[in-house]
Amino acid sequence: MSTPEQTAAEQGDQETAAQRPVSQCPVAHGIEPPRGSRMPGIVQLYLGLRHTVAFSRWSQRTFGDVFVAKAFPMGKSVYIADPELVREIFAGPHDSLHAGATNGIFLKAIFGDRGILTVDGEEHAKTRKALMPPFRGKLIDGYAGVMREEAERRIASWKVGDVIRVEDEARAITLEVILRTVFGAVSGPQMDELRSIVIKASKFTPVSTTWMVFPKLGKFRPWRSFAQLIERTNELLEEFIEERRNAPDLAERTDTLSLLVRSSGEDNEWLRNQLMSLLGAGHETTTTSLAWAMELLSRHPEAREKARESDEYLDAVITETLRIRTVLPGVGRKTSRALTLGGFAFKKGTMLNPQIEAIHNDPRIWGDPETFRPERFLNTKPSLTEYIPFGGGKRRCIGSIFALKEMNVALRTILDAMDFEHVGAEAETQKRAHVTLAPSKGGLIRRTR
Ligand code: HEM
Repeated sequence: MSTPEQTAAEQGDQETAAQRPVSQCPVAHGIEPPRGSRMPGIVQLYLGLRHTVAFSRWSQRTFGDVFVAKAFPMGKSVYIADPELVREIFAGPHDSLHAGATNGIFLKAIFGDRGILTVDGEEHAKTRKALMPPFRGKLIDGYAGVMREEAERRIASWKVGDVIRVEDEARAITLEVILRTVFGAVSGPQMDELRSIVIKASKFTPVSTTWMVFPKLGKFRPWRSFAQLIERTNELLEEFIEERRNAPDLAERTDTLSLLVRSSGEDNEWLRNQLMSLLGAGHETTTTSLAWAMELLSRHPEAREKARESDEYLDAVITETLRIRTVLPGVGRKTSRALTLGGFAFKKGTMLNPQIEAIHNDPRIWGDPETFRPERFLNTKPSLTEYIPFGGGKRRCIGSIFALKEMNVALRTILDAMDFEHVGAEAETQKRAHVTLAPSKGGLIRRTR
């Protein structure tokens, strides 16, 4: 297979998807409208999935900070690696830029029609308001004990000399943490079943991905078994909701499910959709970010020592990890009317794709962006225009404080308990594992102490 650069150069030239408004006519002002490759959609999809970063870099170099790419099933999207334009998009207008409409293309089959990620407008504002309370700073400090316990449990199973695939271990930690946060107690056969389904379902395959886009395929093999997994998850969630509604201590409980059951009345479908969304959004991203932090620390002994000694440095390690190894490369917004932003006139129905990963690695913004240097974040807060791992505006991640706390507690617990080294001569590359960009070998380290 040729590289994205070669393939694109062989295949061709460019096309236009959005136009500058007449007042800024490209010809009159010498500004070109967004362009993109003319490669067939299927080739662009392949490159976008298998060579996400290289394809994005090549497109940006070739066509500019605002470029067009095709990806099935979304069709043509405008990719935006210009931080000012991304800031403008995140700022609104929210009644015309819809994240749910783009997230829903992939996520509705799993998270449902009413999950926080797949709704827009009033429905989204209401849902977000209901889900926010458990993810506010004050309550999150209370989860630190659970986070530490789960990290300690995994560390106890690693022996000195063992090679550890940190992605698997991080998944074990983050899954238990989110289950305990959302459900409270997590023992019993139903919970074991849920746990094993979440692990299976988070391994995206061509079968699960095609089913997510075309859920009707679930009537047929090989899609049926994946559709049944999701159906079974919904049955289990329904049982948990009913049990919780009848729990004698419901009024005193502080887990997310109890808070939502108390606030949402009898609407089980809404509750199931939110629980699915929290389980889905709340563990894969954190798993991959934690795996990257360990992979980076394993290759940087000095940073490891400094992080061991200073909490401030550890926080800088986390901030730098989320920059240099951005796990969600981009987010989506669909225009529901014709709109002019940053001098571009976008038609109604245009898919806009702010490119977080590209902005985080832009040499015009970050000196030496490919170097892992936590020091760049010591004694300074990153700009919210140029540092956006959690997206932005009214759709900014509701779990950001939770995720940062979890990474901090897990890494602190690991650094206090042991030392480790990188396995293999090369740094791991970014591979599209599930929705996220994960370490190509899962983050292999060896425990040395
Ligand atoms: C390092 C870990 C994480 C990263 C990098 C991350 C990143 C993101 C990003 C980029 C978005 C989209 C924002 C946008 O469209 O502008 C998002 C949305 C979301 N995240 Fe996270 N996330 C992380 C952890 C979590 C956790 C732990 C939870 C829950 C416990 C969570 C729950 C959500 C939810 C519910 C949304 C949808 C918000 C909305 O549509 O209003 N995330 N996240």
